[in-house]
Amino acid sequence: MCGIVGYVGKRNAAEILIDGLKRLEYRGYDSAGLALKTDKGLLILKEVGKVADLERMLQDRAPVSNQGIGHTRWATHGGVTLANAHPHKDGSGRFAIVHNGIIENFMDLKEELERDGVVFISETDTEAIVHLIARFYSETGDILATLVALQKKLRGSFALAMIQQDFPDRIYCVRKGSPLVIGSGNGESFCASDVPAFLPYTRNIQYLDEGDIAEISLQGIKIWDENGEPSEKPVVTVDWDVTMTEKSGFSHYMLKEIHEQGMVLRSTLKGRTADGRISIDQELGWDAETVSRWDKIHIVACGTSYYASLVAERVLEKWTDFDIKVDVASEYRYRHIRCDSSTLAIFVSQSGETADTIAAQRKARSEGAHCMAITNVRGSTLAREVHSVMLLKAGPEIGVAATKTFTGQMAALFLVALQLGRLRGTLSPEEEERLINEFLQIPYKVELLLEREQEIRGLAMNYADKSNFLFIGRGISFPIALEGALKLKEISYIHAEAYAAGEMKHGPIALLEPEVPVVAVIPRDGLYEKTLSNIQEAKARNAPLIAICTEGDTHIAKYVQAVVEIPWTDEEFTPFLTVVPLQFLAFHIALLKGKEIDQPRNLAKSVTVE
Ligand code: F6R
Repeated sequence: MCGIVGYVGKRNAAEILIDGLKRLEYRGYDSAGLALKTDKGLLILKEVGKVADLERMLQDRAPVSNQGIGHTRWATHGGVTLANAHPHKDGSGRFAIVHNGIIENFMDLKEELERDGVVFISETDTEAIVHLIARFYSETGDILATLVALQKKLRGSFALAMIQQDFPDRIYCVRKGSPLVIGSGNGESFCASDVPAFLPYTRNIQYLDEGDIAEISLQGIKIWDENGEPSEKPVVTVDWDVTMTEKSGFSHYMLKEIHEQGMVLRSTLKGRTADGRISIDQELGWDAETVSRWDKIHIVACGTSYYASLVAERVLEKWTDFDIKVDVASEYRYRHIRCDSSTLAIFVSQSGETADTIAAQRKARSEGAHCMAITNVRGSTLAREVHSVMLLKAGPEIGVAATKTFTGQMAALFLVALQLGRLRGTLSPEEEERLINEFLQIPYKVELLLEREQEIRGLAMNYADKSNFLFIGRGISFPIALEGALKLKEISYIHAEAYAAGEMKHGPIALLEPEVPVVAVIPRDGLYEKTLSNIQEAKARNAPLIAICTEGDTHIAKYVQAVVEIPWTDEEFTPFLTVVPLQFLAFHIALLKGKEIDQPRNLAKSVTVE
């Protein structure tokens, strides 16, 4: 959590840093601040609240400076106060830093520094870092030696950017456990937690490895490893462009991202199938011999990415012959699930920076599993640590609630399932071709559904005043019920629970009454009749019912108050369609309730702490 950004160049640093922080605000929005280098020393400007509040404060005050660092905070150590807002300075005021991550030995360090007479003015762990930097620098007089020594002293995860009053035109950065990327432009250099921060200015990126130290300056970029040895990092040109980080006429990022789902599916599928066959052999580097070594698949993720994994579990069960386990990363990492060289472990993470998912991957890898990442962020920690990667082609997702990346993750997992089915011989060529032909139709079917937004808005108006919702589904629709409930609760703050429809009788049915709407995900599939019985049970308890069903289902209207029809598709592909009305429903209910949809309270998009 937290976003950091740094700039050295010829332009107005305050403007560039504020713009960068706005693009990183999905990482946290408790407070924001800048440190600018001026002729009179370092100027620190901070504000509790959003980056826009900091920007307002700056309007009449920001001096012209060409070098600075900035931060947007998601509070961990210490409350949401001005004193705890970053940047933090050392006692002399010559060093200032911004930090993303957590210092685990912070209390010991603080005690040690206080014994030496250092006075802390905030409750943050970050302040200990800046005091240590000042101490090591006064001992060594060498900034590289200081940052090497600093890493040896700190335990935990950190991405740091540091500015020093007397250093000409340069910023130093350190990356260990938290994301940090470097950008180089023409006579200007950038660092940030994520690429969108400086996408308007450069697409030339260098990804730092664990322990790397970087100097970004007017002259360019220098990188060293954690021992202070020079390190070469290739410059990668990213294929994201700045329009992808803008709202493009939509009122919210989330709405824009819902509407991008047809395009995301099309680009995720592009070039990965050919003539009715799956074509990702080279991308994954697997052949029949490789996959014959595995008999188990573990899929591990958090939140929405976990629900995409649950959908994939059902498809893998059908198309392949593996023993499959799916778990949330925060549980998996502490369980004793058998994992060895016969395991393919797939880690699904939009950001590639989720702390629990990364830790789970490290555990599976240490036990001998072949580890694969499905992620939207090239160069992310997860992508760099695994044996195989499949990148989503979703473009940056800025709304905190995941939508288009959920769809992209399901698509990527389906491609992997098709590939495994083919290589294991569990899918016949005819079946593979039939599935791929239908898969290629899904982007069009999603786009047909997207045109029905106003219909779902009407539905939202009827239900926005309810305080509790129940979502139900069976089989492949159960994870969609979970995702629908998560979307509603995280952006509208309405209590919503999801159950496998067959579980209703085992407890949740007690909640049903006329004030508790039940959203049933009931496409025409093998479990249709079973879910219909559960709908009847809910109707008998006078719960209002909304059904997400397949077009032409005239039967269901007898039992429910409202229906949203999806285009017909094979059972396996229904999740790509049934989720869309649920995303719209959550969005429009939250809008009617006046909530901050793109930045819901207490959440951050990238959960980089355990
Ligand atoms: C919900 C949401 C979260 C994330 C979860 C995992 O809308 O976005 O539940 O899915 O925090 O994040 P990643 O996929 O980045 O690992």
